[in-house]
Amino acid sequence: MEQPANGIESMADLMDVVAGYWASRAVLTAHELSVFTALGDEELTAEELARRVECPARSTELLANALVGLGLLRKEVGRFANGTFAAASLVRGRGDDLTGYLGHHAMLWKRWSELTESVRAGGGQPFSGEMPAEATRAFIMAMHASSSHWGEKVLAKLDLTGVRRILDIGGGSGDYSYAMLKRLPEATAVIFDLPNVVPITLECAQLAGVADRVETRAGSYWEDELGEGFDLAIVSNILHSTGPEGCVTILQKAYRALIPGGRVVIHDFILGEDGTHPRWAALFSLNMLSGGNDGRSYTREELEGFLEEAGFEEAQHTACSEDTGIVVGVKR
Ligand SMILES: C[S@@+](CC[C@H](N)C(=O)[O-])C[C@H]1O[C@@H](n2cnc3c(N)ncnc32)[C@H](O)[C@@H]1O
Repeated sequence: MEQPANGIESMADLMDVVAGYWASRAVLTAHELSVFTALGDEELTAEELARRVECPARSTELLANALVGLGLLRKEVGRFANGTFAAASLVRGRGDDLTGYLGHHAMLWKRWSELTESVRAGGGQPFSGEMPAEATRAFIMAMHASSSHWGEKVLAKLDLTGVRRILDIGGGSGDYSYAMLKRLPEATAVIFDLPNVVPITLECAQLAGVADRVETRAGSYWEDELGEGFDLAIVSNILHSTGPEGCVTILQKAYRALIPGGRVVIHDFILGEDGTHPRWAALFSLNMLSGGNDGRSYTREELEGFLEEAGFEEAQHTACSEDTGIVVGVKR
């Protein structure tokens, strides 16, 4: 049996992974207390910072010292300031705002801390009721932080010849479509997502500077059809949230929305054949388990099987990163 590269093979490796949550938790707590935003462009003593974040001076100073150690803050003559990265990306409302990503992980933290129970029970508690507006925003802004960074890189490998009308199924922030629109000045996109999400989608379209070519459609891909006449449909980071039957249902709806010759693009984590690697894709399946849904990461062969079942032909896989890839199917 082969040992995975970068696996845990020593006490030092074990410590890195097992105690890694200390650093993670310190950053998430700083975000939850708005430490980076409170600092903004200023240099504050621990007492001044503590007043702004409404915490005792001693605990604020210990947290700030640890954040200096992590490279997020600077400390000079007893005053704390954001480091270059934190100033650009972790202060709320800045151009390159990644705080949505932190908010999303702060939320996931709670689920992951119950992972033992979730594995024992066969799954976490499914979320019931409507997600609070703040959590929805954190989630979509987390997608925006990630997909506005990776969009162009991921889609660089995609042949977009002849694409005029794009459908983005569960598009969230819509950034993968915006990356395509930037390469296709004549094209337009419809971003299909839940009613409480699409207002946030429009904000992201504006941030990307393509709002004039973007339309949103509110609905559910379980209950609604997705429209028609599209020549490319993208299903990015969607299939991992449902079981095999759900994957085929969504792809069948994409099939019906496409013109003959149209393409569906699945973008997702892609597991190796035995389901154990890449490491992040395998861990992501636990993320789905802890969220109480029946999804997980799939192998390339499984995704190709779903495409075939939905009616698509000529499935083609391209790796995008160590963990993710695209699989394209054609409607003939
Ligand atoms: C993991 S995000 C992926 C967002 C985007 N495609 C991306 O790759 O960045 C999943 C998206 O599916 C949307 N979604 C979940 N259930 C849905 C449903 N029943 N109908 C339409 N969209 C849904 C969520 O609101 C969210 O925007």
